[in-house]
Amino acid sequence: MAEPKSVVVTPELHAYAVAHGTPPDDVQRSLIEVTAGLGSVSGMQISPDQGAFMTLLTKIVGVRFAVEVGTFTGYSSICIARGLATGGRLLCCDVSEEWTAIARDHWVRAGVAERIDLRIAPAIETLQALPADPPIDLAFIDADKPGYVDYYEEIVPRLRPGGVVLIDNVLWSGVVADPTNTDENTVAIRAVNDHVAADDRVEAVVLPIADGLTIARKR
Ligand SMILES: C[S@@+](CC[C@H](N)C(=O)[O-])C[C@H]1O[C@@H](n2cnc3c(N)ncnc32)[C@H](O)[C@@H]1O
Repeated sequence: MAEPKSVVVTPELHAYAVAHGTPPDDVQRSLIEVTAGLGSVSGMQISPDQGAFMTLLTKIVGVRFAVEVGTFTGYSSICIARGLATGGRLLCCDVSEEWTAIARDHWVRAGVAERIDLRIAPAIETLQALPADPPIDLAFIDADKPGYVDYYEEIVPRLRPGGVVLIDNVLWSGVVADPTNTDENTVAIRAVNDHVAADDRVEAVVLPIADGLTIARKR
């Protein structure tokens, strides 16, 4: 087998890469600060470089209807909403009124509140109730890990051909490839990674950005 073509991303190299992409703006910086004030749960927020990537991807795909599973305080939703085509909509799924209140505030400040519908309910119920039309152009899965395969299975049939589903945390702090780790969340992440890899309906790549992000495009 050929030598893998990859670089070890040291903290210095990571900082260099982040410094050479589009930085967060004032609203996003405020959201990072407010979320940090919540304590250790702030680690659930996606990173700014992943957010910049998601805005770009949303623009490239020409997204008119997007679905987010796991909104928290709103960073990723702002990134997706900013990339939507004119008239595009984002449906956000979460169970927390408290965390999404922070998101709502920052959606207004970011000028994207009119493009977003928030459903406070278990995401599986919201997804199961979605009609086939309009088809989903882009979905982002970033909620409870044991639910990932079920979320994916509700989303893929509703994706338009050429639509994409993004799955977060697929490298799970690097422990996903450690077979001695049998923590419930690690096992759930392995399950969704195996599930996507075996799914002929999509073509997929695992990007080592942030905590690992899969992009699966419906054929
Ligand atoms: C990792 S955070 C999402 C981070 C967010 N994407 C961001 O960029 O800041 C996970 C979110 O999923 C939500 N969540 C957990 N279980 C859920 C469920 N069964 N249905 C819907 N949302 C759920 C949590 O309330 C939390 O806000």
